[in-house]
Amino acid sequence: MSAVDRREGSVVLDGTWRFQLLPAPGAPLGEQWGEAPVPGCWTMHDPRDLPHYTNVQMPFPHHPPFVPDDNPTGVYERDIEIPAEWAGRRTVLLVGAAESVLIAEIDGEQIGIGKDSHLASEFDITGAVTPGRRYTLRLTVVKWSDASHIEDQDQWWHGGITRSVRLHSTDPLHLDDVAVRAEQDGTLRVDCRVRGPLTDGWSVSAELEGYGSLAQDTAHDAANRALGRVSDFLGEARLSTTVADVRPWSAESPVLYALTVRLHRADGSVADTSHHRIGFRTVEIRGRDLLINGDRVFIRGVNRHDFHPLTGRVVTEDDLRADLVTVKRFGFNAVRTSHYPNDPALLDLADELGLYVVDEADIESHDHAHEIADDPRYLPAFVERVSRMVLRDKNHPSVIVWSLGNESDYGAHHDAAAAWVRRHDPTRPVQYEGAAKTDWSSTDIASDIVCPMYASLEEITAHARSGEQTKPLILCEYSHAMGNSNGTLADHWAEIETTPGLQGGFIWEFWDHGILQRTADGLPAGPGATGGYTNGTTAPGYRWAYGGDFGDTPNDGAFCADGMVFPDRTPKPAMYEHRELAAPLRLSYDGTGVTVHNRQHVTGLARLRAAWLIGAEESGTRVVPVPLPDVPPGACAPLALPPELPQGTDELWLTLRVTTADDLPWAPADTEICTPRIRLRERPAVFTGAPAGGAVETDSEGLLVHPLLTAPPVLSLWRAPTDNDLLGGAAGRWRDWGLDALVRKPVSVTRDGNGRVTAVAEYPTAAGTVVHEQILTALADGSVLVEESATLPAGLHDVARVGSVLETAAGPDTFEWYGLGPWESYPDRCAGGAVAHHRARVDDLFTPYLRPQESGGRSGVRAFSLTRPDGTGLAVRLDVPRQVSVTRHRAADLAAAAHHDELTPRAGCVVHIDAAHRGLGTASCGPDTLPPYLIAPGTHRWTWSIRTL
Ligand code: GAL
Repeated sequence: MSAVDRREGSVVLDGTWRFQLLPAPGAPLGEQWGEAPVPGCWTMHDPRDLPHYTNVQMPFPHHPPFVPDDNPTGVYERDIEIPAEWAGRRTVLLVGAAESVLIAEIDGEQIGIGKDSHLASEFDITGAVTPGRRYTLRLTVVKWSDASHIEDQDQWWHGGITRSVRLHSTDPLHLDDVAVRAEQDGTLRVDCRVRGPLTDGWSVSAELEGYGSLAQDTAHDAANRALGRVSDFLGEARLSTTVADVRPWSAESPVLYALTVRLHRADGSVADTSHHRIGFRTVEIRGRDLLINGDRVFIRGVNRHDFHPLTGRVVTEDDLRADLVTVKRFGFNAVRTSHYPNDPALLDLADELGLYVVDEADIESHDHAHEIADDPRYLPAFVERVSRMVLRDKNHPSVIVWSLGNESDYGAHHDAAAAWVRRHDPTRPVQYEGAAKTDWSSTDIASDIVCPMYASLEEITAHARSGEQTKPLILCEYSHAMGNSNGTLADHWAEIETTPGLQGGFIWEFWDHGILQRTADGLPAGPGATGGYTNGTTAPGYRWAYGGDFGDTPNDGAFCADGMVFPDRTPKPAMYEHRELAAPLRLSYDGTGVTVHNRQHVTGLARLRAAWLIGAEESGTRVVPVPLPDVPPGACAPLALPPELPQGTDELWLTLRVTTADDLPWAPADTEICTPRIRLRERPAVFTGAPAGGAVETDSEGLLVHPLLTAPPVLSLWRAPTDNDLLGGAAGRWRDWGLDALVRKPVSVTRDGNGRVTAVAEYPTAAGTVVHEQILTALADGSVLVEESATLPAGLHDVARVGSVLETAAGPDTFEWYGLGPWESYPDRCAGGAVAHHRARVDDLFTPYLRPQESGGRSGVRAFSLTRPDGTGLAVRLDVPRQVSVTRHRAADLAAAAHHDELTPRAGCVVHIDAAHRGLGTASCGPDTLPPYLIAPGTHRWTWSIRTL
């Protein structure tokens, strides 16, 4: 494995190959060959072996290194022709990745075996082929092996050839490896290893585009000293230069320089050439800070798997670019390649677009972690997987940290692998979560960074303040994005930004791993399927499959649907939360003027443009462009307020819509980057002294009767459990208490002389009785004022919501609101968006989380309407900003469904108006929401009005 890129001039063997799927490696081949795409996972197109999802548990009970006898084995075959012009050259077969054991044969002769499902296998086949002749190339891929036990990552199991297959040739005298070290100060060192037959001599030259040749410092000619040698190692050469006025590479400003390295024969002619795009940057750890070019940069990272809903694990360069462009647009500056080296194209793109990468080795032995970490039979695999990754990726400026793998306990193998890396590449730190797990302060371990997963805010801040911290603390995983999640992200970042020693982390994770499945036959739609999905939602006849949906047992259900984007890369609402928290600029307001703060490290604000969004409750929302001063990085400057602000006393918010001014490599001009907001005027009290009207129409229980309502407002304490509610335990308590099946027991109905109706009801639960009072008053403007209170007994210490639920008749299809929007928001996830007037189709308010659950809420709603196309409908006003949701589904409908195709939208709207709504937290894996976002027992009051439009 080397860092010399041989893609140029190679013969690409991708396409349709002959294929047979055997039940086990020794099984006889059949007469009949089928076809399969290469690259491709057979699990995505062959019904005999479908995708299987497990997290920690292995899919079979065997202990390492054993595997089942039933062991799907794919035999891929095609004819190849070795180009005649390769005569006299060295010919190499490269299989980008095969899952899992690869056996290569040419015309029936075995030429090699490879393991590691996420790194290439290279075979020098010079001796096995004659240029100009045709051969049969057979690649046999065996699904299970000893290596499966160290590829036990939390993802679907597949089988196949998952990356490109190519042939390339080199001169017999060739560059075996090129190692580039380019520092922020302009120093550049290039180390080359040379292989070939014994020669009269050789030399290496290197040229940096725009700066000329590098000087050769040293050359070590092994050939001269090794007469009679058997190795083809000829020696090494080191070249160097110092580039004056270098523009350093960083995620913010990814400046790349073209470097060309040439290997010359004794007569000066060129035998081999290697092209590199290099970046000058320095990574160092000083005290407890990780510094990039001397700067303490916050790591706003995301974990990313290679995933595609149609191909399983096969991703094209376009897919990779689309992923990274999305990552950049939502404010991330870092990616952890969880949990294996990605296609090399990903690193080229990270270099180009500007992303810091934690490059992770393909090692996870989760189910048998303790056993394997010190089992000497696995030592070579650990060291080899780490070292081959480092050898391949070391020249990428984007790679700032090497990771020894994931969830494999901590053993001698890790120390061995870390020692190899530290010696081979002293320019980057090494991290491994398992090494720093038990004692965050220890120094003598295989991790230069403390990189816990899912640690609570309390724990990490306590460590940073303990005086014991010896290393940077960057969470390798946090804020588990399963379903409707990522609550308290803002709380996290508030602590991280103000606590020395805390430097960020990587959200778990980018993808929801839903595979597009045809509901008719239950099979994966597979490579090439078209039209099965849009905007995160599947079309009729399809669904997003998760664990168990292919009959795969054992499985871990929907735990693979835990990403910030849907399986088609549509961003979930939590992405906007992250975007805001990571915004390049922030605003502050001191009561008279606004200041804009540039929070970047190297770039000014000139590449951005802005407009004020003026949101006044009474007078509507307007957009006014504002010139953005070009504030230098880290500095601030005044920002002009809009000239004509709405007069009056109603609430007034300003949101700055910041967009890209020009095309950037990751965002065309006018892409929205962030929407920071400030409040200029407080909301005055509402419903004070509103004049009374006539009598309110109610039913015999005192509940509102209204022509547009099919169900009057009653108390709701429950929501369709989110994944966090389910896996964190809250949903179980709610069910035990009976909150999902509340029964209203009328206690009294009284009507006063003015037609005001007071209805008192009890809602018995297993944890005590809730008393609910609702007072209905007709107001002179034709609206009905609804004043409610609910008193929760001490036993109901953590409910989902306290509020009213009502249902409308069919008709209203448009929701307009003044409040936070346009995206879904919840009390602990409401940093993004604008407080303004928003409008949406009712059908679009719902968020299609893969397993149906509470969704579609909007925080801070002050007023809303639900209207038919002719403008008639309902208008609601709220006493204070509250959580509101409008969907086509009752909570019970959502809770009963496992997939969206099981849901039938109701014709009317289900409307929740909440006095209190529990935060989302991240308890499906990690901390729950924080105490301020929990609902305390006691009395809750809320008031609202409803009017016919
Ligand atoms: C971590 C693990 C990830 C994933 C996550 C939960 O423990 O490293 O691979 O399983 O939890 O989704």
